[in-house]
Amino acid sequence: MKLILLGPPGAGKGTQAKRIQDRFGVVQISTGDMLRAEVAAGSEVGLQAKAVMEAGQLVSDDILIRMLGNRIERADCKRGFILDGFPRTVPQAVALDALLAGRGMKLDAVIELRVDAPALVERIAGRFTCSKCGAGYHESFKRPKVEGVCDVCGSHEFTRRADDKRETVQARLDAYERQTAPIIPHYAGSGSLHVVDGMADIDQVTAQVMAVLEALPVSAQV
Ligand code: AP5
Ligand code: MG
Ligand code: ZN
Repeated sequence: MKLILLGPPGAGKGTQAKRIQDRFGVVQISTGDMLRAEVAAGSEVGLQAKAVMEAGQLVSDDILIRMLGNRIERADCKRGFILDGFPRTVPQAVALDALLAGRGMKLDAVIELRVDAPALVERIAGRFTCSKCGAGYHESFKRPKVEGVCDVCGSHEFTRRADDKRETVQARLDAYERQTAPIIPHYAGSGSLHVVDGMADIDQVTAQVMAVLEALPVSAQV
């Protein structure tokens, strides 16, 4: 199964990608997570990306295309992958077509999570994750079952992303409108684009996403 999850910051790409990963055993590839790991490691890419990400802007296509090309070579991508946060520009979409064609691969579906911009600021500003296992939470929409304790691993430590400040969120939303939304027509003609209502609650969004995936040919579901 080879999927793209498309949608603005806070649309729920990461939340849904994790659920698809658990259900179908295909790996989530979040370019945002990969970049944050580079920043944390202080690598050359991380040094270039840090300020750009904190300003809510997009890191250069060259870096991202190289990063994704290397990532999909890895053995865990043989069964497929869920792209979360890539492609994000028209040049990235064009490069992805070439990367897949070069490996004899084809996308099974592009799922657009459609949401209203005003809801996104609240979603992002309320988000936090477990420092140990990365499980995602939200102050209003998805609190841990026991206050201050991760549901998954029992850790008591949580973190917030450096780019989740209210003032940065608007820059990220603007970047989506200006640079990422224009890739939607790239997929609209292919018959693989599915629009899902990302405003519904988390479980209802998952149900819509799973309905799309279950309707794919059996060959795409393995
Ligand atoms: P990235 O990490 O991809 O961030 P993003 O696209 O801004 O999206 P988010 O991760 O903020 O949101 P999400 O859609 O995953 O939502 P989530 O599930 O967490 O990118 C970060 C930065 O890296 C970019 O700004 C850029 O600088 C750089 N970058 C990355 N890829 C790049 C690329 N290809 N090219 C160039 N630069 C790149 O949900 C959000 C919150 O809402 C959570 O708390 C969740 O619990 C809650 N929630 C989720 N769904 C619902 C729902 N249905 N109802 C209520 N709450 C919900
Ligand atoms: Mg995410
Ligand atoms: Zn945890």
